Amino acid sequence: MSVNLSSASTMDVPRGLAGVVVADTEVGDVRGREGFYHYRQYSAVDLARTRRFEDVWHLLVHGELPDARRSAAFAAETAALRGLPEGVAVALPALAAAAGAGANPLAGMRTALSLLGAAKGFRPVYDVDADRRREDTVVAAAAVPTLLTALYRLGRGLAPVEPREDLPYAANYLYMLTGVEPDPERARAIEQYLISTIDHGFNASTFTARVIASTGADVAACLVGAVGALSGPLHGGAPSRALDTLDAIGTPDRIDPWIRERVLAGERVMGFGHAVYRTEDPRSRMLREIARRFGGPRVEFAVEVERHVEAILAELKPGRELHTNVEFYAGVVMELCGLPREMFTPTFAAARVVGWSANILEQAADSKIIRPVARYVGPGAPVEVPAAA
Ligand SMILES: CC(C)(COP(=O)(O)OP(=O)(O)OC[C@H]1O[C@@H](n2cnc3c(N)ncnc32)[C@H](O)[C@@H]1OP(=O)(O)O)[C@@H](O)C(=O)NCCC(=O)NCCS
Repeated sequence: MSVNLSSASTMDVPRGLAGVVVADTEVGDVRGREGFYHYRQYSAVDLARTRRFEDVWHLLVHGELPDARRSAAFAAETAALRGLPEGVAVALPALAAAAGAGANPLAGMRTALSLLGAAKGFRPVYDVDADRRREDTVVAAAAVPTLLTALYRLGRGLAPVEPREDLPYAANYLYMLTGVEPDPERARAIEQYLISTIDHGFNASTFTARVIASTGADVAACLVGAVGALSGPLHGGAPSRALDTLDAIGTPDRIDPWIRERVLAGERVMGFGHAVYRTEDPRSRMLREIARRFGGPRVEFAVEVERHVEAILAELKPGRELHTNVEFYAGVVMELCGLPREMFTPTFAAARVVGWSANILEQAADSKIIRPVARYVGPGAPVEVPAAA
């Protein structure tokens, strides 16, 4: 048996790094037991209730809420960055075609973001000062809705819709998706959803962004990695699945048998459970309120499903405290606002890109690379390498 010399300086941590503190942050925090989360010193839900998306973006990347003058200036600055460089715009039809008709635009966006970073001359965060890093995050985040909506439309045989500088971030996003200026109630509902999902602790995509930032790579590289992590169904890929669940259940009388059968078979009910919250997810509460503002049979059915599933999970998974997470009502709200299901996770990305930005900036200011170790559990080494046949 070989001796692992590095083991003398290692320590074990829980699976999935649960509960392990790996950084100090001023970006925000999630208090799972209280059901509370915040961006810097403000309740995220209060920000979503009272502020514009651009103001919260400013808070995240500049560290403070802007005054009225600064708010208008930042909104204008970001709106002016929505257009795409020619070299990126001409690549989008090929990316959409490669992904196939009707595809979710997230995969194409990863590639397009890489191109955008190159076209805009992004340099390794290690090599540039804090102002330039911040500028690069703003340039990238401002272009994300344009990339997503253009790829979505191209994948359906439609021409991209040019961004409008006179519309706020959320309204412009919906406009670029449909080509029609959204009604204010829907635009505000999506804006509130976007604000509420900007950041949420050291989730997998944020951690990924920070790991890449810790290597000194450029902002586009950090964001592309983060988008990849977000796309997984255990992270950002669930809202359309939560709606699929509502569709599959169909009617109130089928809730009970449908859910029991799945949970007893070891399956997870999408839109329920959270790695950190052990009480109601505050985002879910806010989004339920927004859904109820619209009302209608779909919303009533979702509320009914929530009530039943919580009771069944409490019975079948006692002590686990499984409630709706952000994705359950996010799906309902996005559907009410006319967003197609393939755009649910991309829309999440259009918000989270701001949280990733703040985390990348914070990580880039720290020169320590994130580099844990793994326990080797394979066959004992070294074994003589067999001669090539
Ligand atoms: C989000 C999630 C990955 C968090 O997982 P986690 O905190 O690591 O929880 P665990 O995987 O340790 O699960 C603990 C127990 O609860 C069960 N559980 C967790 N979420 C469940 C769900 N949605 N439906 C049914 N059972 C669930 C697990 O099966 C496990 O049961 P066991 O102890 O009998 O094995 C998990 O709740 C999940 O898969 N939810 C569905 C997907 C989803 O909605 N994702 C969006 C997240 S915002």
